[in-house]
Amino acid sequence: MAREPDPRLSIDLAGLRLKSPVILAAGTAGFSDELTDVLDLSHIGAVVSKSITKEPREGNQTWRILPSKVGMLNAIGLANPGIERFMSEIAPRLADTPTVVIGSIAGTSIADYAEVARHMDTVDAIPAVELNVSCPNVHGGTEFGTDPVALADLVTAVRDELKHTKLFVKLSPIAVGQPSMVDVAQAAIEAGAEALTIANTVPAMGIDVRTRRPVLSNVTGGLSGPAVHPIAVRLVHTVYQGIAHKANVPIIGVGGVTAWDDAAEMVLAGASAFQIGSALFADPKIPVKITKHISRWLNTHRVDSIKDLVGQVILPG
Ligand SMILES: Cc1cc2nc3c(=O)[nH]c(=O)nc-3n(C[C@H](O)[C@H](O)[C@H](O)COP(=O)(O)O)c2cc1C
Repeated sequence: MAREPDPRLSIDLAGLRLKSPVILAAGTAGFSDELTDVLDLSHIGAVVSKSITKEPREGNQTWRILPSKVGMLNAIGLANPGIERFMSEIAPRLADTPTVVIGSIAGTSIADYAEVARHMDTVDAIPAVELNVSCPNVHGGTEFGTDPVALADLVTAVRDELKHTKLFVKLSPIAVGQPSMVDVAQAAIEAGAEALTIANTVPAMGIDVRTRRPVLSNVTGGLSGPAVHPIAVRLVHTVYQGIAHKANVPIIGVGGVTAWDDAAEMVLAGASAFQIGSALFADPKIPVKITKHISRWLNTHRVDSIKDLVGQVILPG
């Protein structure tokens, strides 16, 4: 039986107690228990389930995943069994998960998101949901994530459905320029987001040069892994400095965390917790290794809690 994580790593994420800031990212660890044969989930702070939509979705045709030299592209297209089957087949077994489960909700209309939220709110084993308003691989997937007005309407509607469940909002990395990422984050916070997950994959494309055809059936996909890490760090930093710190809303950093120092960068940029996605495909035990090293990092900075390092990047001047 392996040891519990270092108590200095325990965090309070918008009132949700996690034993560590290490979270498995949506869509990369099944509905919660896909990795249990290879990873002891009791060492993990939380796992975010695959995004669930109102209706079942087959997802896109193959190919849906493409390795790249700097990470991976995916265009899964939100394949999932829909909320009805989720409730009857998956929700009952979530209580056996030895860590916190965060539900993930996707959709293309406010009514659809709200309906999934209404169901998830009745599941005791889901203390928080993450709204995926940032999927680049379905029609309308990023609309809410790039428009502050539409996002505020969506978050307000979902907030109204949640009586027992915390609401996290996962933003898109493509809100650059006007409206800015800070505008989008502010809209989500004002409408009731209790934490922000930053960020989803970055739209990208791969071409097979022999056939001259796009490799992914969807033509484009979402880039994740090491290539997106510096982008995600900058977005976390920008939103932390621009709104989240003042508003006291925690950020969950996600994008290319493949080693402990990537995770540490997220924390220094302003993330209270971080998610690991693509790196699980190469090494499903990586969360445990990162947890151990992050503990040692706390020693070198002589802090009693990881929260003492959140947002502590030292800026010039
Ligand atoms: C195969 C795959 C499936 C994904 N499915 C979802 C999903 O269902 N919902 C979601 O919000 N994000 C999904 N994502 C995005 C990840 O949760 C994460 O935001 C992104 O991959 C960046 O993190 P990473 O670089 O650590 O992979 C998926 C990513 C991958 C690689």
